[in-house]
Amino acid sequence: MKKIIIAIDGFSSCGKSSTAKKVAERLQYPYIDTGAMYRAVTLCFINKNVDLNNFSEVTDCLNEIAVSFKRSPQGDNEVYLNGTNVESEVRKMYVSEKVAEVSANPLVRKFLVRQQQQMGEAGGLVLDGRDIGTIVFPDAQLKIFMTADPAIRAQRRHSELFQKGEVIDLQAIRNNLENRDYQDMNRTESPLKQAIDAILVDNSDLTFDEQVDLILALANERIANHQVYA
Ligand code: DC
Repeated sequence: MKKIIIAIDGFSSCGKSSTAKKVAERLQYPYIDTGAMYRAVTLCFINKNVDLNNFSEVTDCLNEIAVSFKRSPQGDNEVYLNGTNVESEVRKMYVSEKVAEVSANPLVRKFLVRQQQQMGEAGGLVLDGRDIGTIVFPDAQLKIFMTADPAIRAQRRHSELFQKGEVIDLQAIRNNLENRDYQDMNRTESPLKQAIDAILVDNSDLTFDEQVDLILALANERIANHQVYA
């Protein structure tokens, strides 16, 4: 069976990660949450007080960073920074507030894009992020661009944080995600945009299962075609 690359890009908090994770699980492909990689680097920069405008501080810090993923006993791929599990730390608001700025840095992007491309060398991978279909894997066999109404996205994020014990004002969450969307779309380096051959999925009115089924149907079609043409 030929294995394909599935790139899921889109706006913040529109369910890309949970959808990508489920699609990967159903296809028995590994899943890479590239946002978690940018978050792990951001956490390291915060901890080490790295000045983003200082080239040598940024390169020195990147030279000492190892971002990796390990499977939890529950089967989730969790992100590690230099051997420490930072999966829940990187989701906290203080990291979210800084991550768009860190991910706009060209050195950071170069560093992480190279690692992501290596992870996908053998095919058979689902990745979610902002630039997967445009920069990381421009030849991905299936590209999805996900979006949803900002009010719905803020509400979903609010409930997610609440379940983890972080109580944040709904409006503050909406401001944060709209700010990140703006910064992601307007940065010079790999701005967030829909790849010309990506399929737009607006999940404002879709259930989680509906969107997973939709993407799986597209993936199975691409896998069948890839088999014929590869
Ligand atoms: O998917 P997320 O919200 O966890 O991503 C966190 C931030 O990382 C987001 O504001 C943009 C950045 N990001 C990026 O620039 N490129 C990616 N491939 C993934 C995430």
